[in-house]
Amino acid sequence: METKIFKKDEIPEAVELLKNGELVAFPTETVYGLGALATNEKAVKGVYAAKGRPSDNPLIVTVADEKMMAQYVENVPERAQKLIDKFWPGPLTMILPAKEGSLSTAVTGGLPTAAFRCPNDELTHELISQLGAPIVGPSANTSTKPSPTTAEHVYHDLKGKIAGIIDNGPTEIGLESTIIDLSVEEPIVLRPGEITPEDLAKVLGEKVLMNKGTTKTAGVPKAPGMKYRHYAPSAPVYIVDNEKDFNDIPQRDDIGVVALDSVLDKIEAENKFSLGKTIDDAAHNLFNALRFFDNQPDIKEIYVQGFSTGNISAAYMNRLNKSAAGHHFHN
Ligand code: TXA
Ligand code: MG
Repeated sequence: METKIFKKDEIPEAVELLKNGELVAFPTETVYGLGALATNEKAVKGVYAAKGRPSDNPLIVTVADEKMMAQYVENVPERAQKLIDKFWPGPLTMILPAKEGSLSTAVTGGLPTAAFRCPNDELTHELISQLGAPIVGPSANTSTKPSPTTAEHVYHDLKGKIAGIIDNGPTEIGLESTIIDLSVEEPIVLRPGEITPEDLAKVLGEKVLMNKGTTKTAGVPKAPGMKYRHYAPSAPVYIVDNEKDFNDIPQRDDIGVVALDSVLDKIEAENKFSLGKTIDDAAHNLFNALRFFDNQPDIKEIYVQGFSTGNISAAYMNRLNKSAAGHHFHN
C-alpha cells in the first residue's frame, strides 16, 4: 500500500479514505495519532494490526467537539463539563462511562468506560468535522516505540501499512495528553501530561489523585496501555538524575548522550543529542532524541538527563522511566 502525505488543502481526500475504512494518521498538539473511523469495527481492528498493539488495550475516541462526544456517553457529568469548558480543545483526555452499545468493544477493549479527547489542531478539527464522526486515536507509532512527534516519525514506523498521513509539522508539546479518570468516585490522573493534577484540582475545586505507577486499583485495570513496555529504543536507556554524573558516564563511541545544552556544552562525548535549553524543550524533544539513537545500530547505550522540577517534569519522567525500564545511572 502506498502511504500518501496530505498537506492542509488536502483534508477532503483524507476524509474520503477514513469513510472507506482506511487508516490515516493525524496531527495533534501532543503527538501524532493513528486515525480510523471509530464506528467501523473492521477499520478499528486495522489500527491494532498496523501498530502491533495488544487488543486488550483500549483506544481514545477523538472528537471534534463536546457535542460529538455527547452521542457516546449517558450524560456529561458536571466535573467533565468544567474541564471541557477550561481545557478543550486541548491536551486532556477524560475517561467517562460510555453509553451502552454506542462503541464497539474493539474501541473500548470491553470496558464500560471510554476515553475522550478533543485535540487542539486545526487540520484534525477539520478532518473530524467533515467526517461527522469520531476517529480512534492511539499514538501513531509501532507499539513499544517512542510516540511520533513529526509526520516523518509516523512514516518511518507505518509506511506501507496505512493509507495516509496528514502533515502539520512538528507537534507543539511532544508528550501525550493528560488522562483523567472521571468514571470513579475520586478523580484520578492515570497518565501525567502538560495539564497537571494541580491545574485540574483548581478547576474542579476538589482533590485530584495521581496514579503512582500501579496499573491496578482494586483489581480493575487502569489505563491498560500503561502496563506495557513503552517508548523504548533497542539500546538500553539510563536516566542521569544529577548533572554532575554526566562527567562519569563511559567515554566510548558507541554511547549516546541526551541532555540540555547547558550540560552538553560542558562534557566530552562522541554522540550528543540536544534536548534544547529548557525543560519544556526537553519534553518537546525527548521522543525525537530516543528515535535519533534508535536509528543508529552502532549506539549500544543511551544516557538521558532526568528532571525533578518544572510543571512538565512528572510527564517527562513518566515517559523516560518507561523507556529506561526504571534504570538510573549513579556514580
Ligand atoms: O495525546 C494523546 O493522548 C495521543 C494523541 C494521538 O491524541 N494519543 C494517545 O493514545 O496517547 P494511546 O492509545 O497511545 O494512549 C491512550 C491510553 C492508553 O494507555 C489506553 O490504555 C488508555 O489511554 N485508555 C483508553 N481507553 C481507556 C479507558 N476506557 N480506561 C482507561 N484507560 C483507557
Ligand atoms: Mg501510545
